[in-house]
Amino acid sequence: MKRVYNFSAGPSMLPLAVLEKAQKELPDYKDSGMSVMELSHRSGLFTDIITEAERLLRELMSIPDNYKVLFVQGGASQQFAMVPLNLMKNGKADYVNTGSWSKKAMKEANKYGQVNVIASSEEENFTFIPKIEADMIDPEADYVHITTNNTIEGTAFREIPDTGNVPLVADMSSNILSEDIDVSKFGIIYAGAQKNIGPAGLTVVIIREDLIGNASDICPTMLDY
Ligand SMILES: Cc1ncc(COP(=O)(O)O)c(C=O)c1O
Repeated sequence: MKRVYNFSAGPSMLPLAVLEKAQKELPDYKDSGMSVMELSHRSGLFTDIITEAERLLRELMSIPDNYKVLFVQGGASQQFAMVPLNLMKNGKADYVNTGSWSKKAMKEANKYGQVNVIASSEEENFTFIPKIEADMIDPEADYVHITTNNTIEGTAFREIPDTGNVPLVADMSSNILSEDIDVSKFGIIYAGAQKNIGPAGLTVVIIREDLIGNASDICPTMLDY
């Protein structure tokens, strides 16, 4: 067998041991007589899989009890819309423009409310991360959005900005689980799984409980956290 070394950001390589275990279990998952792909997504066996995945993620990231972990579809790109649809109560949010993915997040949010760019490195080709000071943040903003690792430009926040009472929302698609982070500093962390966690098709959202239940009237039911 010849395995390719794939160094691209994602979808990334999975450990061979994981692939081999999946291969071995595929025709008959845990004596169910069917593969994991054929199991009902509402069955007890599948509930066990998702419960264990959540338990492990909580352990790895020391996720506090007042945060929910959601496994959703639509990629990290869908969060560009879900975040404003769920959080924009005052209709405005602060964004830090540090690269191509931040710009995409801003473009989408702009459909649902006012996007204020409080700092940007675009004029210098996204070669640095601007420093975020407390007085740059609008206290009335519904949230502050950052992209913690700029996959295309190769820059990363080394210091998590203190946004006070304004919830900090972070796209961590390309650095989640690569370093210790203090989850309690964030209102929402989201990440597509395909870079640092697993195969494409799954998105992880870690959300502080008080931010759930405030979706705007136009938010589709399936996009309401
Ligand atoms: C920082 C960042 N955000 C968002 C995305 C988009 O993710 P998805 O393809 O899951 O929508 C990517 C990469 O694909 C990314 O690197």
